[in-house]
Amino acid sequence: MERILNVKDLKKYYGKNTNLTKALDGVSFEVEKGEFLGIMGSSGSGKTTLLNCLATIIKPTEGVIEIKNKDLTKLKSSELSEYRGKEIGYLFQNFELLDNLTAEENILLPISLHKKSDLDAKRRLKLLASYLDISEILNKFPSQMSGGQRQRIAAARALILDPEIVFADEPTGALDSKNADMLIRKLAQINEEENATILMVTHDPIAASFCKRILFIKDGKISHEIKRNNSSETQEDFYQRILNMMPKLTGGNKNDF
Ligand SMILES: Nc1ncnc2c1ncn2[C@@H]1O[C@H](COP(=O)(O)OP(=O)(O)O)[C@@H](O)[C@H]1O
Ligand SMILES: [Mg+2]
Repeated sequence: MERILNVKDLKKYYGKNTNLTKALDGVSFEVEKGEFLGIMGSSGSGKTTLLNCLATIIKPTEGVIEIKNKDLTKLKSSELSEYRGKEIGYLFQNFELLDNLTAEENILLPISLHKKSDLDAKRRLKLLASYLDISEILNKFPSQMSGGQRQRIAAARALILDPEIVFADEPTGALDSKNADMLIRKLAQINEEENATILMVTHDPIAASFCKRILFIKDGKISHEIKRNNSSETQEDFYQRILNMMPKLTGGNKNDF
């Protein structure tokens, strides 16, 4: 197995003194190549803070984040922007597409920023467009697309440079159930077929049931971990195990998720 990500005793504190919030309070885990890892936890448990630290959008207070054995907290700013651009893909809840660019231009944006060859880019675009079923809408602008289509365009943009790892923060959170189901199936397919490594925050147990392993966060710490047993456990059984776990994180009320 090839280790992609190694997180050791990560802490992120916001504020000071009486206003101190320990959003992350000692989180450690590893991610292997090809994993589809879910992160679940109730609102305010630290999920977005975790992803934002991993994506170097914010700086942790303490701890180590290694991608392919490189310690991110020790990189110079030029190396960091290289890392942000090439080694990670980020998929947000609210798509974050640029309104004045077409779908294709949005997807190819990381290519122009990171000087990849046009030919490779076109080939990759074609492959991703077919995976994500967006070939027919590449010339449209975001305002001309449905939410589900926008998120599949955003997924193609996150994957265009074939990053080491994709971070997805509630990628189905703004979608109706039909589009959420379609997106999650596409991500699962890309995980299977390309061995893409995906770390997804979600509070949707159906979306989480497509993952192979799930970390549950409570008050800034990992409280439980479950792994799907591929040889003997159906997705439905795994879904049930996730449902049973959820009340343990919220003190009994799964609507707090
Ligand atoms: N920029 C910030 N300044 C102060 N507190 C913050 C900030 N961002 C998040 N928090 C707090 O940190 C905790 C974790 O937040 P967050 O990571 O957004 O949780 P989640 O994504 O699981 O809902 C919450 O208590 C939240 O209020
Ligand atoms: Mg969040």
